[in-house]
Amino acid sequence: MTIELPDLPYASDALEPVISAATLRTHHGKHHRAYVEKVNALVRDTDLAGATLEAIVAESSVRGAKSDPAMTSLFNNAAQAWNHAFYWRSLRSKGGRGPQGALAELIESSFADEGRFSEALKAAATGHFGSGWAWLVLDEGALKIVTTSNADTPIVRGQVPLLVIDVWEHAYYLDHQERRAVYVAGVVDYLIDWEFASRNLEQARRIDLRPKPLSSDTRTPPRVDASMPLQ
Ligand code: FE2
Repeated sequence: MTIELPDLPYASDALEPVISAATLRTHHGKHHRAYVEKVNALVRDTDLAGATLEAIVAESSVRGAKSDPAMTSLFNNAAQAWNHAFYWRSLRSKGGRGPQGALAELIESSFADEGRFSEALKAAATGHFGSGWAWLVLDEGALKIVTTSNADTPIVRGQVPLLVIDVWEHAYYLDHQERRAVYVAGVVDYLIDWEFASRNLEQARRIDLRPKPLSSDTRTPPRVDASMPLQ
């Protein structure tokens, strides 16, 4: 099974003016494509050839933690491929309404109100040092804003991502230069696909409600699939 570069779920100019078509074409067509191609090159003729992207991320994370440089390189590229696929789906043109239903209730109970949540997400994304990602995750039932550095991803930490913002410079420098805060504010205020985040929350809760095995390890493995079809 070759890992494929997923198509963007919208036109390349759909996120303007926050994210220009030029940025989107380069980000998706060059950066994301390069990560996918590198993964395929690195797993060729290995026992991970044919594995899903999620399995490659998980396995290379474990093996890379044992100080295997080749596995660390594979993890970096595989996690970046997964993170980017999830990022494209976290966004939509003109974002639509803010958080609704169960997600809105969880945000209010976790952050007091939507305004404080929005400011906390912006602060985390803007304040993250260096390259990385700002995520809204479900961590053992609790809603959290977390950031990860470089390629790191919450799916290897037992957390279920609901949405993500790419804060690598390649995501915004062409449009906003060093002003990451302007890019982040534009994304949070106008481009988040809250319906995607809600679907991820619903899926995570359905998994949590399943009967638990009797083994001592009851942590839920990550099940969010960035390649699942749009609804
Ligand atoms: Fe990126």
